[in-house]
Formats: sequence, structure tokens, C-alpha cells
Amino acid sequence: MTDMPPTGSPAAPASPAVDPAWAELYEEIADCPRCVLAKTRTQSVPGVGPSTADIMLIGEAPGAREDERGIPFVGASGQFLDELLASIGLSRDTVYIANVVKCRPPGNRDPEPAEIEACAPYLDRQIAQVNPKVIVTLGRFSMARWFPGQSISRIHGEPKREGGRIIVPMFHPAAALHRGDLRSVIHADFAKLPAFITEAGIGASE
Ligand code: URA
Repeated sequence: MTDMPPTGSPAAPASPAVDPAWAELYEEIADCPRCVLAKTRTQSVPGVGPSTADIMLIGEAPGAREDERGIPFVGASGQFLDELLASIGLSRDTVYIANVVKCRPPGNRDPEPAEIEACAPYLDRQIAQVNPKVIVTLGRFSMARWFPGQSISRIHGEPKREGGRIIVPMFHPAAALHRGDLRSVIHADFAKLPAFITEAGIGASE
């Protein structure tokens, strides 16, 4: 679920420095011709954050703001995501954030199965590189990778443990922009994350 640009939003923050470990993959994504979204994008939006992050968040696809800036979650839902992270003492500099699809679907439509499939090898490489201990899926498209056939309304906030990782399905932050009643639900789901982070051994001395 992508969102429209926020109205009256503050000036865009400076672009974060890119971890050199991402150089080759991000260059490939920048020139990607694998699906029709290449024809309409302003630029691709590979991901943001350290290649060594313990926590990875995976959204759906870039919206208008992200397409303009080349950085995920810098529009209205990104503002809410930052608020959610801050509510549990995390900042976006310490996590890795990516999307299932790296280019903006025109008009913020849902990504098509062929687009998700064409982009999947990039997400595979991002997950392999980061090797996160906790993955938070934001919305149904990233949820579907680990919880096929499930409904977000049923399983949000209920994690799955797989391959030494904890995968936590969450509503997409943009859902709260459309349905105000989901705001507190998403906050409550995020409030569960610190326990999963502790369970995963993140922050424990090595
Ligand atoms: N929605 C997403 O899923 N990803 C973004 O990067 C922005 C909005």
C-alpha cells in the first residue's frame, strides 16, 4: 500500500549515506529493465540502511515521494513509520528498510504478480546480505512471502520463527492513514517488537 505525498510536510531530510556494501546491487537496481515499472519510474528505490542491521522492515512499493527521492518511506506513511520506530526506541538509521517492488507502480496501484516476481531476486539478495535476526513485514505483499494465503487482519503482530529468524507481520503504516482506528492497533503491534528483539539476542553482548 503506497501513499500520496504528505501535505504541509516538513522539508525533506538529507539523503543518508549509502553503505558501500550496497554499491553493486543498488547500481543494478538503478538500471533494472526487468518489468514495465522501469518505463514509468523517475528512479528506482532500492532500500536504505546498514547492510549489517539486525532488523529489516519490508514494505510494498515506492509511492510518489519515494520515486522522487529514491529512498523508501519518506512520504506520509514514512512519517508514521518513523513515529512507530521512535515509540520503541529505534531510529531508521539502525534498521534496514526495503520494499517488495523497487519502482513506483503508476498511480500507486498494487504491484502486479509479474512485477513482484521480477523484483524478488533483489529482495532475496538484500535479505541474504543483511541476514537480519528480525524481519517486520509491512502490509500484505511482504507478508505473503512468509505467510502465504494468510490475512493480515488475522495474523498481525503474531510472529513466525523460521531459519533462526523471527518474522513479524504488521499492517502497512499507510493503512492507518486510511483507517484511523488502525493507528492504535499498529502501535500495539509495534509495542510487541522489543520482546522479539530481545528473544533474537539483539543488543546482547556477543
Ligand atoms: N509504501 C511502501 O510500501 N513503501 C514505501 O517506500 C513507501 C510507501
